[in-house]
Amino acid sequence: MATALLSFYMNPKIIEAMINLKINLSKAEPWITPTDLDNLLPKAIEANNAVLGKTGAGSDFLGWVDLPTSISENMLVQLETDAETIRKNSEIIVVCGIGGSYLGARAVIDALSNPFSTLMSKQDRKAPLVLYAGHQLDANYHLQLLSLLDKVQYSLIVISKSGTTTEPAIAFRLLKAHIEKKYGASEAASRIFAITDSSKGALKKMATANGYSTYVIPDDVGGRYSVLSPVGLLPIAAAGFDIRELVAGACRMEKHLKANNTLTENPAIAYATARNILYSKGKTIEILAGYNPALQFIVEWWKQLYGESEGKDLKGIFPAGVNFTTDLHSMGQYIQEGQRNLFETVLTVEETEENLIIPHENDDLDGLNYISGKPIAEVNRMAKVGTMLAHIDGGVPNLEISIPRLYEGNLGELIYFFEMGCALSGYILGVNPFDQPGVEAYKQNMFALLKKPGFEKETQEIYRRI
Ligand code: PA5
Repeated sequence: MATALLSFYMNPKIIEAMINLKINLSKAEPWITPTDLDNLLPKAIEANNAVLGKTGAGSDFLGWVDLPTSISENMLVQLETDAETIRKNSEIIVVCGIGGSYLGARAVIDALSNPFSTLMSKQDRKAPLVLYAGHQLDANYHLQLLSLLDKVQYSLIVISKSGTTTEPAIAFRLLKAHIEKKYGASEAASRIFAITDSSKGALKKMATANGYSTYVIPDDVGGRYSVLSPVGLLPIAAAGFDIRELVAGACRMEKHLKANNTLTENPAIAYATARNILYSKGKTIEILAGYNPALQFIVEWWKQLYGESEGKDLKGIFPAGVNFTTDLHSMGQYIQEGQRNLFETVLTVEETEENLIIPHENDDLDGLNYISGKPIAEVNRMAKVGTMLAHIDGGVPNLEISIPRLYEGNLGELIYFFEMGCALSGYILGVNPFDQPGVEAYKQNMFALLKKPGFEKETQEIYRRI
């Protein structure tokens, strides 16, 4: 084992086989030793067997494990057909959802979109702009959204597995009234797409009563593991991106991870093992760092996936995120010299735009001629290498996950890899990574404060406390 580990360290590109994603643990030495890996690996393999054999905690929610390879051609055609209809009649798509019913779609759409698409003309943009609602309760945000929708042609994708979540339910009530007033009930119904449970919940009832096109979220797929179901695929397709490539990338990763269960060949096992070793050594915060602003919502999606899956039973790594080099001028100080309870996972996109060259200036007043003629991407690369070394020298172990370029296929690989890494990490940690009992606490208080029927006793108690 130690020999295999050595070759893994010496040749981090070893995990190449069928997949494009690579993981490199070599910058986490000396915090992760061959003995640490030898010791934890049996537990990681056991976790892998429990996920694949569906024998662990929360095994009713393991539908995501087979999701990519089980998406049918019929489903893809239906998604593409509805996406085409939405694109034809809309300048804007409003996606209404929260948590796992929102972040995955936003992560992929933001990663692949022109960062200035909101300012582009309809013709230049080619696909409708995606806006979001129901992911928070701010009145001003929703008011301004509704007043914008007065002026544009739009469609609505409403997503809620339970069909009863307060934030999207309120936003949908507002949006439903708006779209019915704007288009009349019948056309409004043809512009609303509901993604929800097959039989339960208020959204299902409303979709049936009003005749909305409806997609089902499989019973055995939990919210934060659902981006590769219609929850993510319909908004992503409607925004003009290639869901066949996304699913193909996820299938590549699914097949690869299912066929390999060694540290050197299975990047999810490598990642889950490494982060749990670091956790056992007091590294209780993981910072996912990107050097590309397009990754910002991938980081947000990852934070939800890992935070909601692992943070329970008084355990779990706290997932944080940074965008470098921007945050090197803010959080960089803490990472370099603050409490030493951190490790960093750097998310690298290898292929970058090499044609933007730093110009030469004869007077060189800014002193930049030493890098003139170089692509700005080269400076970003050196910033990354320099930062990784500085953080390691400052006591922050670094892991690195890389994909060759940002396109749907590699994002599909990355999503499935992170989902599997999360499930394995949760099992290694000894928690159920598929439930979220803790998110009920704020809801109970909010319902009591709002005097929801059925909460009379809680209402009395809570008003005594405030
Ligand atoms: O991962 C989860 O289960 C949660 O984040 C949910 O996705 C989120 O609470 C939204 O739930 P729902 O889709 O039922 O509205």
